[in-house]
Amino acid sequence: MTDTITIRRPDDWHVHLRDGAMLEAVALFTARQFARAIVMPNLSPPVTSAASAAAYRDRIMAALPAGSGFTPLMTCYLTDDADADDMARGHAEGIFTAAKLYPANATTNSAHGVTDVAHIMPVLERMQEIGMPLLVHGEVTDGDIDIFDREAVFIDRVMTKLIRSLPELKVVFEHITTAQAVQFVDSTGPNIAATITPHHLHINRNAMFAGGIRPHAYCLPVAKRELHRLALRKAATSGSSKYFLGTDSAPHEVHAKESACGCAGIFNAPYALESYAAVFDEEGALDRLEGFASEHGPKFYGLPCNEGRVSLERRPAIIPENIDAAGSPLVPFHGGATLNWQIVGS
Ligand code: NCD
Ligand code: ZN
Ligand code: ZN
Repeated sequence: MTDTITIRRPDDWHVHLRDGAMLEAVALFTARQFARAIVMPNLSPPVTSAASAAAYRDRIMAALPAGSGFTPLMTCYLTDDADADDMARGHAEGIFTAAKLYPANATTNSAHGVTDVAHIMPVLERMQEIGMPLLVHGEVTDGDIDIFDREAVFIDRVMTKLIRSLPELKVVFEHITTAQAVQFVDSTGPNIAATITPHHLHINRNAMFAGGIRPHAYCLPVAKRELHRLALRKAATSGSSKYFLGTDSAPHEVHAKESACGCAGIFNAPYALESYAAVFDEEGALDRLEGFASEHGPKFYGLPCNEGRVSLERRPAIIPENIDAAGSPLVPFHGGATLNWQIVGS
């Protein structure tokens, strides 16, 4: 049995670092494990311009100790009246790595999102032209569609058409949660990829109702049936370069989670790599963790792999139930449970 593994330093291709005091509290958890991260732009107000992204990048760097070696990769939040020139300029200047499509009102801070993809076709055409990846929160927002079906319906109604009309556009289907998404990604060309979160590999929808309502297991897209979790585990550990690590770590203050109308989002940054390692171990695929965590993402984004290395060892650890975030506690994913892998030196 393998008891220690060493992989290239990984990157997180989807994370919410927030802003202000929350940013100060959480940034280090990501920077400690990952060399780079694709930082989501769903602040309030959202990051829609190159200037606001550059300012946000500066705030992220200021929240980290000097010499952290961490590189935030910034994204542009697309709205119905997105400015293609500003976005393309930001991309050319190295401020924007990608742009993010939130269907309006699909998730946290998405009120300014896109109401119809038809409205942003000129922007998407420009992205295809300059090779700028489009990151998609893939859920329809139609209240008539069952919440557990919103990703699958998005594939049928939006994704399929999108890739047909823009066949060269690089698209990352973010935080996929269904067997249908896996099937879709597998059936497309190399310009279509997906991120998979640790929580969607560990939990199915029962976790939200285990003995009572469990707000800390609630995120969007919501966890689905067991058959979907198994399809995601198979995809992540398959060795296919279409799948890569994206934690979707999305912290919310405890009172905002434990509420009559609790926020969606799971805070998994503190033990993200350990969480993925446990899955790859359970699937007998530890030899494929490096591809998923450290190689497939850079390859898709056209960036070099990191040169540093990180080692994990099989050593059980109880994950704390709360993590202090500058005086206010946050509840981490796996809080109170045991994970069998630890980063060496942690
Ligand atoms: C994210 C957040 O809180 O910003 N929440 C979540 O449940 N994943 C938004 C998102 O990624 O959809
Ligand atoms: Zn999302
Ligand atoms: Zn997210």
